[in-house]
Amino acid sequence: MASRSARVSRERPFYLRHADAYDELITDPVEPWVAAVHSRAPGADLLDAGCGTGRHAAAFRALGHHVELADASPALLALAARRCPGARTHLVDLCSLGLASAFAAVTCRGVLNDMITDGERQAAVTALAAALRPGGALFLDVREEGAARRRADGTEHTRTAGALTFTSRTTWRDGLLMVDERYGDAAYHFRMRPWSAGELEARLTAAGLRVTEIGPGAGRRTPDRLFVVAQAPPSAA
Ligand SMILES: C[S@@+](CC[C@H](N)C(=O)[O-])C[C@H]1O[C@@H](n2cnc3c(N)ncnc32)[C@H](O)[C@@H]1O
Repeated sequence: MASRSARVSRERPFYLRHADAYDELITDPVEPWVAAVHSRAPGADLLDAGCGTGRHAAAFRALGHHVELADASPALLALAARRCPGARTHLVDLCSLGLASAFAAVTCRGVLNDMITDGERQAAVTALAAALRPGGALFLDVREEGAARRRADGTEHTRTAGALTFTSRTTWRDGLLMVDERYGDAAYHFRMRPWSAGELEARLTAAGLRVTEIGPGAGRRTPDRLFVVAQAPPSAA
């Protein structure tokens, strides 16, 4: 576990001590993302990279996909495994994933924003591309930098899950989202880095993929997300 984002995944209270509250706090519907992927890669065996609690993975399984789960947070991965009995799990840093040519589809939703250095970002994209079989497809959901910057207005958002009061506040500095979270009395600060279409194109191309779609996020409630599809080249044979 070497990358900075993998370390954050293991220490952020949202992904650790309060992992059980994740599904109560994050309630956007799974169907639009699952439908967007399924319609483009029906039945594909897939890796859910950065699977969180496995809510999308379970929906893919219900549609007949063989799904494997990967995440750096042991607490979230355990919840995903419980939700997807029998699914193979990978407790890994996506920046050094090491799963070569294994999947017809790789999905990575809401994850790549956690990678803020150029090195991490290219390593993650390259590792995800390497996990694809020839002709396979990578599906991404990322924050778009212009809209993310406009949304980061310092407003406090408070939600509750059982006895937990969760507050978050996001501002923008030097190309990064500065996120302050409070969980009752505990506080946690971390940074995220949204993406531009140009950076996506450059990094995915450098990883050997061909970008076939960049458009609005699939079923996102806010306009600061991008839905991205990139294809691995077909086999040379
Ligand atoms: C915002 S959550 C999204 C979870 C899920 N994909 C969803 O849409 O509900 C981001 C996830 O990415 C994982 N993650 C972030 N950086 C990672 C890394 N370097 N390696 C593996 N997982 C990582 C976190 O642990 C977390 O589960």
